[in-house]
Amino acid sequence: MYSDKVMDHFSNPRNVGEIEEPSGVGTVGNAKCGDIMRMYLDIDDQGVIREAKFKTFGCGAAIATSSMATELVKGKTVQEALEVTNKAVMEALDGLPPVKVHCSLLAEEAIHAALWDYARKNGIVIEGLQEPVEDIEESAEYDSL
Ligand code: FES
Repeated sequence: MYSDKVMDHFSNPRNVGEIEEPSGVGTVGNAKCGDIMRMYLDIDDQGVIREAKFKTFGCGAAIATSSMATELVKGKTVQEALEVTNKAVMEALDGLPPVKVHCSLLAEEAIHAALWDYARKNGIVIEGLQEPVEDIEESAEYDSL
């Protein structure tokens, strides 16, 4: 049912934890399944993401997608990080079962929420970034593979 990559990132998640004094932090949840994800980003003066960490209270797919999302955004500029969509995360994990697609959306939204916090703190606008919602079920338009 799950790819080897999903199982790997679930059993051995990368970048679990917190960043003290993060450049941006965002928390999103899904009221329907009750899962919550918090993403921390450390962003340097050039707008490059130096570090990303997460804490997820959620299912195995939510943990695997958080782990992969943090890996994918590290080293990217804030603008490039917007391209780390739920689809990109799923592709990097070699897919997810259809009922687990919403878990990858939590990862995308957690990145957006952390970027939004960073932009707000610094008084900047990140082109293409919309204000994130706290409960992703409310927005629920997302791509499947
Ligand atoms: Fe809701 Fe996975 S079941 S995030």
